[in-house]
Amino acid sequence: MGSKLVGCGSAVPKLMVSNDDLAKIVDTSDEWISVRTGIRNRRVLTGDETLSGLAMEAAKGALHMAQVDPDDVDLLIMCTSTPDDRFGCGARVQRDLGCKNAWAFDTTAACSGFVVGLITATRFIKGGGFQNILVIGADALSRCVDWTDRGTCILFGDAAGAVLVQACNGDEDGFLGFDVNSDGNGQKHLNAVAKEDGADALLNSNGAPLFPPKKSSFSFIQMNGKEVFRFAVRCVPQSIESALEEAGLSTSSIDWLLLHQANQRIIDAVASRLQIPGEKVISNLANYGNTSAASIPLALDEAVRSGKVKAGDTIAAAGFGAGLTWGSVIMRW
Ligand code: ACO
Repeated sequence: MGSKLVGCGSAVPKLMVSNDDLAKIVDTSDEWISVRTGIRNRRVLTGDETLSGLAMEAAKGALHMAQVDPDDVDLLIMCTSTPDDRFGCGARVQRDLGCKNAWAFDTTAACSGFVVGLITATRFIKGGGFQNILVIGADALSRCVDWTDRGTCILFGDAAGAVLVQACNGDEDGFLGFDVNSDGNGQKHLNAVAKEDGADALLNSNGAPLFPPKKSSFSFIQMNGKEVFRFAVRCVPQSIESALEEAGLSTSSIDWLLLHQANQRIIDAVASRLQIPGEKVISNLANYGNTSAASIPLALDEAVRSGKVKAGDTIAAAGFGAGLTWGSVIMRW
């Protein structure tokens, strides 16, 4: 059984925060940010906006494009590191969309999350019994950045993107090859770790101390930007080459290079290593910053809706980020 992409959608919060806005809260400038990263604006969740709400809007767009009824969705995979609920919010999105015949789960692989979710969806379909799977990449890293740290707060934005993956005959298979990796040795370079603060000991019925429970919260994002940069530029081209090899294709067969939108200099360096010309590279991070698991489906949706990506085009998509994790997928639109 093969799988193909039949719809995409995306959603972003209303509030746009420019580099000049950030220069009012930290010691930075539009010039520094745009030259080093390519980012000019980002969107940030405010008021009563929720990540689940964005995810639902994105998924609705994908279902509408695919002309698939919510009742016909079998599975919803919510790729996020920043759910509205610590236990995940895929089931809430499933309920809000009215996908009453589907089950849902959350998966976390930071900025590689969407690629991991997409590959997982194709494996479920290959195993049989699944016809329509919604894969949603949604993140609100604005929730976990230190807004006084100019080294990280300038990079991230909030968004959601979604695709509908549908079962098809093997000869129509739109997923041609993939590659996934992780290396926990690099976790020190990019993380938001659990902080376990001690609390007062619980007392037993006699008033004697029983044990002090741990109260946990998470630290802000900690990042060694230079190491993350080196990791991405070294590992992502290798990953794409492995996925291409599995697909039996070469870089010249790629119509579009669609990388996780972390930094324009990373995108340019990977394209240059793979000798893919700039006109085949999809980039929208100037408007949205690094939206983690949402960045690939958000950029895909814009490229499809603007008519840039056309039916039958071959796309090399790659995610990379905390874990460290990275992976690629070669797919046809
Ligand atoms: N504005 C002005 N100056 C700044 C800013 C800022 N926003 N941030 C840092 N600086 C200063 C530093 O303090 C330093 O000053 P100093 O020389 O006086 O010490 C100088 O600029 C250079 O800082 P570096 O950190 O060395 O700058 P670098 O060239 O490495 O650029 C950047 C930093 C843009 C973060 C880059 O390393 C990068 O993009 N790395 C990749 C990060 C990334 O993509 N992370 C996301 C991964 S995906 C995920 O999973 C979340």
